[in-house]
Amino acid sequence: MQITIRKLKESDILTLARIERESFSHPWSEESFRELLSIDYARYLVAEADGKVVGSAGMRVVYGEGDIDNVVVDAGYRGNGIAGALISELIALGESEGVKEFTLEVRVSNAPAIRVYEKAGFKTEGVRPGFYEDPKEDALIMWRRG
Ligand SMILES: CC(C)(COP(=O)(O)OP(=O)(O)OC[C@H]1O[C@@H](n2cnc3c(N)ncnc32)[C@H](O)[C@@H]1OP(=O)(O)O)[C@@H](O)C(=O)NCCC(=O)NCCS
Repeated sequence: MQITIRKLKESDILTLARIERESFSHPWSEESFRELLSIDYARYLVAEADGKVVGSAGMRVVYGEGDIDNVVVDAGYRGNGIAGALISELIALGESEGVKEFTLEVRVSNAPAIRVYEKAGFKTEGVRPGFYEDPKEDALIMWRRG
């Protein structure tokens, strides 16, 4: 499978909003993605496989830290290393502008996502009790430092 990672653009948004709705109980809307295009500290990437948009991952660079959110891959394309490739590219992009520390939250039960983040060098440093809704669940707070 040919996987390409590139920056988010306006024409990706309809597809990403559909992948979001299929993947999360509180999906990002088209409008939330559209706003990102005009936020200068937001870095959002999409993955293409077989010429189609199949996933995305993003980060906000605040006070020199990369705050990663919204990592998602189309259900039919999971298990092919796409999330891993998105996270590696986000880290490389951050590092190219001097970001040394990256953080994210993940549901404690989300084993595939935790696997992706640990492979990318993230370690659990804390728990946010009851951080998620529908279903209510704790979040692991993960960091990748230096
Ligand atoms: C989490 C998610 C983004 C991963 O995407 P992906 O492209 O399938 O990820 P990758 O293929 O890069 O890696 C998945 C890893 O999890 C592993 N995995 C899959 N199911 C697993 C499970 N039930 N338990 C443990 N590990 C699992 C895979 O084997 C793989 O690890 P490996 O590379 O060592 O074999 C995708 O599952 C998804 O979109 N889920 C719904 C949205 C979501 O939860 N996003 C994360 C929010 S923090």
